[in-house]
Amino acid sequence: MPGNPPVPGFPTRRLRRLRRTPALRRLVAQTRLTVDDLVAPLFVADGLTEPRPVASLPGVSQHTVRSVADEARRLQSLGVPGVILFPLPRPGDKDPSGSAALDPDGITGRSIGAVREAVGDGLVVMADCCLDEFTDHGHCGIVDPATGEVDNDATVELYAELAVVQARAGADVVAPSGMMDGQVAAIRSALDDSGRTMTAILAYAAKYASALYGPFREAADVTIVGGGDRTGYQQDWRNGREAVTEVDLDIAEGADMVMVKPALTYLDVVAEVRQRVDVPVAAYHVSGEYAMVKAAAERGWIDGPAVALEQITAVKRAGADFVLTYFAGELAEALGA
Ligand code: PBG
Repeated sequence: MPGNPPVPGFPTRRLRRLRRTPALRRLVAQTRLTVDDLVAPLFVADGLTEPRPVASLPGVSQHTVRSVADEARRLQSLGVPGVILFPLPRPGDKDPSGSAALDPDGITGRSIGAVREAVGDGLVVMADCCLDEFTDHGHCGIVDPATGEVDNDATVELYAELAVVQARAGADVVAPSGMMDGQVAAIRSALDDSGRTMTAILAYAAKYASALYGPFREAADVTIVGGGDRTGYQQDWRNGREAVTEVDLDIAEGADMVMVKPALTYLDVVAEVRQRVDVPVAAYHVSGEYAMVKAAAERGWIDGPAVALEQITAVKRAGADFVLTYFAGELAEALGA
């Protein structure tokens, strides 16, 4: 064959033959992203009268309790199987321990309850179980005044209480995201003790101290005091091996599903965790990952929808069973069309 010298022992053009037409490519595609793979993060803010767009996440808004229920119903009708809720307090309700999160009549219960009522059992309702949205210093738990560090064990007790509030309000799944040691075990036993034995736990097991959470902090109105960060409790992004330890611990403590977060910069971790464990593995394509695609697309530098599809499919190819992504609605529309 001119211009195509045969490789000894390899039948030339074997791969190229199967790329010839869209139908052939479709037939042999290894990874198929479907609407079933998507979970949509939703923000709902106390005291809002109208949804408020988040500037750094085009297409994403802080919702009112009413609009979050409508949005959940819309996602359900598009076939999206799950949402994860981030309830946010009024700015004046933040305090050092994030107590507004635990108020049984507060935004946690009202937002989860409204979504539950809107969708019945037709949509999996998850709740992010953390306190940074509710603390005035922006850390994910109580800060020990003596050390200036987050007090792991005192924080875990609050997470356990919060998980029960979320479960009572109707969450199918609670998702502890604070990276405190022992949080999964404490939440599991608190749920069981309160009769919520069927509430599942999706552990943010391998969660990195990533700069990619920037736009989330705008969406959730979180500022860490003194320009601080979460490197004392979230993982160092230079480390791959310790992710395996984190995941093993969370499963031993009772996690029903584990998550790797962010997604694209940690595909090696997703692949390794997938090989290692038998529970469902999720990955969170985070706010910064979404914002980069949106910003570049806005400038006409990339084809946004094409890059979104490629990126989220790559997360699935690496081994994720489902992906939390701000593209969920858009992708569901595109995939369903
Ligand atoms: C903590 C939490 C964060 C995100 C999800 N849960 C922020 C953080 O750890 O600082 C980030 C999600 C995103 O960037 O999309 N409540």
